[in-house]
Amino acid sequence: MKNKHLLSIKDLSIKDINKILLSAEKILKQKKTSKLNKFSNKNIINLFFEDSTRTLTSFELAAKQLGAGVINMSVATSSIKKGESLIDTAMTLNAMNPDILIVRHNMSGVPYLLSEKVRCSVINAGDGSNEHPTQALLDALTIKINKKRISGLEVAILGDVLHSRVARSNIYLLKKLGAKIRVIAPPTLLPSNIEGLGIKTFKNLEKGLEGVDIIMVLRIQKERMTGTYVPSEKEFFRFWGLDRKKLELAKKNALVMHPGPINRGIEIDSDVADDIGRSLILEQVKLGVAIRMAVIKELTS
Ligand code: NCD
Repeated sequence: MKNKHLLSIKDLSIKDINKILLSAEKILKQKKTSKLNKFSNKNIINLFFEDSTRTLTSFELAAKQLGAGVINMSVATSSIKKGESLIDTAMTLNAMNPDILIVRHNMSGVPYLLSEKVRCSVINAGDGSNEHPTQALLDALTIKINKKRISGLEVAILGDVLHSRVARSNIYLLKKLGAKIRVIAPPTLLPSNIEGLGIKTFKNLEKGLEGVDIIMVLRIQKERMTGTYVPSEKEFFRFWGLDRKKLELAKKNALVMHPGPINRGIEIDSDVADDIGRSLILEQVKLGVAIRMAVIKELTS
């Protein structure tokens, strides 16, 4: 990578992306016991200002699997609670000489801001509604492994696109790799600049799912909403939630993805989410560890 940080998919070339995907595929073939001593002198700090289950655990497991040291800073018990500013916290951590700072924050741009203040590499683990680059990389790997290609595939992103950093990073990445992207959402959950991203937009779910190879379902990000964007969860599920009947509108072998956490009965029906023949949700989680190992390797080598 030309950049020593991973802040945005926009900073990655097709070559960078393919290198990370190949490296993750190689990691998947290795035995789990083979910790790489090369990383025993590397230290990684997870600095998560927002809730996380899979991303935080995934980065921690990835670092440990490589043999690197990893610390999860608990923001709830840190000096941030005593009024220390974000930048002071980052500079304090920087003074301890970590190799990578992994940052999640509810404000767009925070990982970028911190990358300007610290000596180490910074990985964006999700900033507000902006980007979540490692999620897009693991999603690309999941598609590549299951569909044997990415280029030319019809990928639909369904649901709360407006507030989704996962949607944005996936649009940038999958477009770079030649997939055809469409978003399907009620008008209130579509960003106003969506047309500028060069993708198709569907405000009608039935039409939107026609001919689709992959359906990426998104959670309604209530925590980022200031007003009312959907009538009720029940109604949202009726019109926009992915159930078996709606899934049948897509291609016969269409596969379902979701970055998690899933809200059953709101954006996705359990019947679809738990169908191991169609749902890649748990495989996404599994591949996330390999992708994060590949990213850590790339940034520390
Ligand atoms: C996503 C996130 O935090 O952006 N989750 C994740 O990282 N796997 C999506 C979400 O919270 O809905």
